[in-house]
Amino acid sequence: MSLKNYSCHYQPTTPEDFVASLSFDQRLAPYDLEASVAHVEMLGRQKIIPKKDCHRLLGGLKKLLADVSKGRRFSQAEDIHYAIEHAMFHLLGPVAGRLHTARSRNDQVITAFRLYLRHHIDGLQKRLSRLIQAFIGQAEKNKHAIMPGYTHLQPGQPVLAAHHVLAYAWMFLRDKERLSDVRQRVNVLPLGAAALAGTTFPIDRLSVAKKLGFSGVVENSIDAVSDRDFLVEFVSAASLVMTHLSRISEELIVWSNPCFGFVTLANDFVTGSSIMPQKKNPDMAELIRGKTGRVIGDLTALLTLIKAQPLAYNRDFQEDKPPVFNTMDIVESCLDIAIPMIDTLVFHPEKTRESCRLGYLLATDVADALVRKGLPFRQAHGAVAKVVKYAQAKNLSLEDIPLPVWRSSSTLFGPWVHDVLSLDKAVSARSSRGGTAPVEVRQQVNRLNHSLKRFDI
Ligand code: ARG
Repeated sequence: MSLKNYSCHYQPTTPEDFVASLSFDQRLAPYDLEASVAHVEMLGRQKIIPKKDCHRLLGGLKKLLADVSKGRRFSQAEDIHYAIEHAMFHLLGPVAGRLHTARSRNDQVITAFRLYLRHHIDGLQKRLSRLIQAFIGQAEKNKHAIMPGYTHLQPGQPVLAAHHVLAYAWMFLRDKERLSDVRQRVNVLPLGAAALAGTTFPIDRLSVAKKLGFSGVVENSIDAVSDRDFLVEFVSAASLVMTHLSRISEELIVWSNPCFGFVTLANDFVTGSSIMPQKKNPDMAELIRGKTGRVIGDLTALLTLIKAQPLAYNRDFQEDKPPVFNTMDIVESCLDIAIPMIDTLVFHPEKTRESCRLGYLLATDVADALVRKGLPFRQAHGAVAKVVKYAQAKNLSLEDIPLPVWRSSSTLFGPWVHDVLSLDKAVSARSSRGGTAPVEVRQQVNRLNHSLKRFDI
C-alpha cells in the first residue's frame, strides 16, 4: 500500500484554511461570550443600541453560553469570534449585526484571551498550593530522616530529608508569587480600543471593566491591541514552574534508582518494561522533565513573534495562541500528575542514612570542631583534608581512623573527635536560621504555612 492512502498525507492548503484559527481558538468561546455580554449591556446602558435589541442580543449570547458549557463546538468560520457572530445571526437574524458596534476583533480577541488566562492562572494557583502542601506533608512524614546533602551531586553534608523537600516548597511558593504578579498585569481591560484608535461611540469602558472583574482599563488604545507582554510573562513564569518540576523529577529519577534506593514511587507513577520483567521505570517524572523543553520553546516562540511587529495589531498575533495553550495544557497536566506523585512518595530513611556513610559527610564538622579549639578555619580545613586523604587511601571511614593519625595532622585533636562523628549531632548543630537542624526545620514549616496563607485571601 502506498503512503498516499493514509489520511495524514499532505493536503494542499487553501488561503481560507491558512488564515483560519478556529481549530485552536475554540477554547476562547466562553470568554468571548462573557465579554460580549458585558459589552452589549454597556451598549444598552449608554443608549448606543436600543434597549429591546440589547435584550435580544443578551438572550442569544446566554443561549450560546449554555450551549458552550454543554460542549458545543463551532465550525465553518475563520475564527471563534466570527463563529459566534454567525451563530448569533442564525439565532436572531439581522439584529445580531448590532453586537459588533464600537468594537473590533482586535480588542475583542485580546479581551477574551485575558479572561481565559486569568481563569487558568487561578486554577494553577490552586494546584501550586496543593503541591506545596504535598511537600510539607513529606517534610512532616520524614522529619527524622537524614540523607546526604549534595553539591556537584557529590556527598557534602548530612541534611534532613524534610529540609531537602522543603526547598521545593519554597520554589513553588515563589512561582505562586510570580503568577499573582503576572495576574495583575493580565487583569486590565483592552476592550474599547476598537481597531486601534478608540471609538466614535460614547462607550463606558470602566463599567465593562468592573462587570468583567478587571481592575482597570488599558489606558492607551494602541497599546491595548498591541500588548502581548503579559503572555510572555505568563509563559516565563510557567517555564519556571516546569523547570522546578523538572528538577524534582530528575531527583526522583535518581533517588528511585536502586543504587540510591532513597524513595519508592507509587505504582501509578511507574511503568514496566516490555522486555525486562523486573523494571519499574519512573516514566511520569521523565515525561515531566521532557515536556519542560516544550514550554521553554513556547517562551522563545512568543518573544520571537513579538519582537519585530510594528504597532498596532498584526495578524502575526494570531500565532500567540498555540504556544500559550500548549504551555497551559502542559503545566496543568504536569501539576496534576506531580501532586499525587509527591503525596504518595515513600522515603526509606534507613537507606538515606546508610548512604551517609559514603563520602566523608562529617569532614566539615570535624574542621568546625578544630576551629572551636582555636585553629583558624583554613588551617582546620587542611588538617582534616589530610586525614580524609589517608582514609580514602586505606578505604576507611572517619570513625575508623585511630587517634594518632588525627594527631599527626593537628595536635589539637583528642578523643573528642569521635564524639563529633555523629550524623544526628551534625544535623542538629546546623541551627542557624534556615539551616537543617530539626528545630529550625520546624520553624521553617511554620514560616512556609504562614507565607502560603497570604494567597488564601
Ligand atoms: N483570530 C484573530 C487573532 O487571533 C482575531 C483578530 C483578527 N483581527 C484582524 N484584524 N484580522 O488575532
